[in-house]
Amino acid sequence: MSSKLRIWVTGASEGIGLGLLQHYQNLGWQTVGSSRRTQGPTVADYWIPADLSDSADQISAVNQLMTEVGWPDLVVLNAGVGHWATADESARSDAERVFALNYWAPVEITRLLAQRAEGRGLHVIVISSIAARFGQQKLATYSASKAAVALWAESVNEEWQGSAHRIQLILPGVVSTNIMRHSIGRDGQALGDRAGAHRGWSVERTVRAIERATRSGRFAHILASPGVRLALIMHDLCPSIFYLLLRRKP
Ligand SMILES: NC(=O)c1ccc[n+]([C@@H]2O[C@H](COP(=O)([O-])OP(=O)(O)OC[C@H]3O[C@@H](n4cnc5c(N)ncnc54)[C@H](OP(=O)(O)O)[C@@H]3O)[C@@H](O)[C@H]2O)c1
Repeated sequence: MSSKLRIWVTGASEGIGLGLLQHYQNLGWQTVGSSRRTQGPTVADYWIPADLSDSADQISAVNQLMTEVGWPDLVVLNAGVGHWATADESARSDAERVFALNYWAPVEITRLLAQRAEGRGLHVIVISSIAARFGQQKLATYSASKAAVALWAESVNEEWQGSAHRIQLILPGVVSTNIMRHSIGRDGQALGDRAGAHRGWSVERTVRAIERATRSGRFAHILASPGVRLALIMHDLCPSIFYLLLRRKP
């Protein structure tokens, strides 16, 4: 059995998840990754293929982790999918796919791991989004799924006070990944080349900020510029001005 600290990252084949595996491998951790792909990237010491929107795969992934690898010191529930369609155009079946991965996967994996803890501490990081904090056109389903998982995590944080377990919430702003290309469009297919440009923080900057967050005592971490954080405060205090400014944005 490895004496290294061990991290399990879901959605680790690319984007933020892949960046996390790379970062923690550089820090000397044993890295375990998961996604639907059968083969993992070279930075994964161990790969658990799973479609985490599927309940049976959630169970088998946790079983495989526990029987073949071991208890994780840190779990980053990062796997997620975008959705880009107006509320009118959004099919219920697509919304259910989005919620299955963005909401139910973190909820169920956390529950399955907590059941197997046997006195060991569980440290879970939930990757939500700043999209959870305000409404935007064509993002109703995605934002609702991220808001749901954020409030779920906030509630679990209350339940776990004084216990050996810990949960933290990360709300990234825009990060330069292929998330928009992978997002489900109004026809139920990935946007691919129809996706607009998606440029923001680099993956490297984002994963450094996530790692710093895991070492802090704070529950929630917004990864965005001071201007964006100020806008979120304005949203909470005076939503009418916030939306007036948002609608004027080019
Ligand atoms: N990029 C941003 O601007 C941004 C902003 C805020 C929040 N976030 C959140 O950050 C997380 C990572 O986003 P990202 O930008 O890195 O996205 P990404 O580049 O599209 O990567 C998504 C990852 O999730 C995996 N995945 C997708 N469906 C899956 C499934 N059914 N089962 C298991 N794994 C699955 C993908 O792997 P496979 O395709 O190999 O399965 C991939 O590794 C997401 O939760 C996202 O909502 C991103």
